[in-house]
Amino acid sequence: MNFTIEYQNTPFLKTCRVKKDINRLNYRCEMLLTRNSHAIRNKRVLDLASHDGLFTYACLKLGAQYVVGVEPRSNLVSDANENLKSLGCTETQYKFVIDDAFDYLSEVEEEQFDTILCFGFFYHIKNQTELLDLITDIKPRYLILDTFVEDFQLPEAELHGIRRRETKKIAGYMVFYHEDQDFDMASFGSSNLVGMPNKSLVESLLLDYGFKFKQINWNDEDVIDRGEIKDYKKQTRVSYIAETVDS
Ligand SMILES: C[S@@+](CC[C@H](N)C(=O)[O-])C[C@H]1O[C@@H](n2cnc3c(N)ncnc32)[C@H](O)[C@@H]1O
Repeated sequence: MNFTIEYQNTPFLKTCRVKKDINRLNYRCEMLLTRNSHAIRNKRVLDLASHDGLFTYACLKLGAQYVVGVEPRSNLVSDANENLKSLGCTETQYKFVIDDAFDYLSEVEEEQFDTILCFGFFYHIKNQTELLDLITDIKPRYLILDTFVEDFQLPEAELHGIRRRETKKIAGYMVFYHEDQDFDMASFGSSNLVGMPNKSLVESLLLDYGFKFKQINWNDEDVIDRGEIKDYKKQTRVSYIAETVDS
């Protein structure tokens, strides 16, 4: 595969704390951004949990008008600033803010961004509905969501056990964990309790928040796994391009 954005020879291979195998980074960029470039080109993009700037950089390469990255870890924001500078990105086209995504989102004005990226973040929080409340208040045209999902299967008997008379159907469930915040890819802040939703809960939430969405198909023939993207192939990690439906 010829990748439009190639992470080989970029500083992200050093600074990225998430799985940084080159094939994985290139495919994540290809599947999440390049193949959805209509949601990036000439758009004002908000990159939540921007880490070391790897996807902010990709958005600029794909022709975004402007990108804001939000990341609470100041060491990662320093890396992001250095990385984009060393790669020659135009400084007036991007900004990294040291902030918690929830705090930042609550200050954003309606329609300030066309596209919001939520990559590798939805399972590092416990208040997914609050996040979606804040995102939908902004009324972005697009939300691109990339997240691990819980694949733990509740036995049918358990599902019946928790069903109540007024319950029409089970929308999904979430498993809670405590994370070790010493890791730079983990949750940040006063609570280290996080919830990982299962796939049907992610989809129920998108529907409930009024999005029309398409799951990104990592099982396309031309997406070759050499072991680095098997989570996407097995759908323990899933991604969606969601669009706000005009009311
Ligand atoms: C698994 S990494 C994902 C990085 C990148 N977006 C990606 O998909 O590869 C999770 C990132 O979320 C950041 N993060 C954790 N809590 C956050 C919060 N409350 N607000 C914004 N970012 C947060 C972490 O510091 C880390 O950079």
